[in-house]
Amino acid sequence: MTFPIKNNVSWVGKIDWELKTFHGEELSTHRGTSYNSYLIEEEKTALIDTVWAPFDKEFIRNLSKKIDLKKIDYVIANHGEVDHSGTLPLLMHCIPGTPIYCSAKGVQSLKGQYHQDWNFQVVKTGDRLDLGNGKELIFVEAPMLHWPDSMFCYLTGDNLLFSNDAFGQHYASELMYNDLVDQAELYAEALKYYANILTPFSALVTKKIQEVLALNLPLDMVCPSHGVIWRDNPAQIIEQYLKWADKYCENQITIFYDTMWKGTRMVAEKIAEGIRSADEKVNVKLFNLAKRDKNDVITEIFRSKAVIGGSPTINNGILTSVASLLEEVKGMKFRGKKAAAFGCFGWSGESAGIVARELEASGFEVVAEPLRVPWKPDAEKEAECLEFGRKLAGLFA
Ligand code: FEO
Repeated sequence: MTFPIKNNVSWVGKIDWELKTFHGEELSTHRGTSYNSYLIEEEKTALIDTVWAPFDKEFIRNLSKKIDLKKIDYVIANHGEVDHSGTLPLLMHCIPGTPIYCSAKGVQSLKGQYHQDWNFQVVKTGDRLDLGNGKELIFVEAPMLHWPDSMFCYLTGDNLLFSNDAFGQHYASELMYNDLVDQAELYAEALKYYANILTPFSALVTKKIQEVLALNLPLDMVCPSHGVIWRDNPAQIIEQYLKWADKYCENQITIFYDTMWKGTRMVAEKIAEGIRSADEKVNVKLFNLAKRDKNDVITEIFRSKAVIGGSPTINNGILTSVASLLEEVKGMKFRGKKAAAFGCFGWSGESAGIVARELEASGFEVVAEPLRVPWKPDAEKEAECLEFGRKLAGLFA
């Protein structure tokens, strides 16, 4: 399938309805994804990005129906990650010598992955590529959005921003445009994408957006490399990114935990009850990490003003589901969020302290001593958990 976008610009990518995980098994993709590639046919023809290698033959077949591959004058590689560059080996086999425009770091990543000495043309912010008919591509380096090699390009005349991963969503849809899809689904996937992929780079997101806005370029569409194209009020996703990048939080508290014999779960639920009794408006959500999707929980943490993490003690440590989440949380570099910790124990009882320490090391402000509960809470301990929740409601306010 190819799809007209505007004038001489077409979408020539692949919608992947089957994808369940991305980055190996690291990131869940409940609604599939798409690998968006764009073809611009002016006096010169440019292809922006390709698709993941499992679809390389399909991509080439499809593209060949649309255009004689030999007519492609320029290949633009906005980002070297394999989901966008995976078809380059087959494509360059078909059109050897065709220049590939990318950032300096893009050369590094493409050479590092494919070990080919293709005809790389390094571009920097502000460089332009003339496509004829009065249209040009303007390049904007966007390092760490989300790789050092990432860049955007902008098509003058049609006013299209090809933003690669930024502003994308892992969201398969045949509808192609933001105004045609379910708005709640779109918001959820754009949010999950930002929370799990871009959060560590929030400061750079703000800076880059301000830099692009300062160029005062008219904007008709934002064309990311995953998910649907923003054509209805395309500025909305840019404004949303500015909000998400600015220590975003809602009036939400996320309690995450794992439990062996339900003691730590009882503590979690009593803490939630305590919070509710003190603050009926705060949205408290509980997640047993052994039963919930890690990336969905990361998204909920992103939305939260505070988190409370819990694990029982096992072998002087914590359960692996909690350890795994804490490791991921550390890389997210969340800022401006508060935290507390809890956990049941039978003998040594280190778990709550470990969770608190890890949260503090990850940039959370731990506001209370960890709550340690021996064995399983009795009536007296349940009251203590309730009081802990009530106290946290005030400290998190
Ligand atoms: Fe969609 Fe960073 O690749």
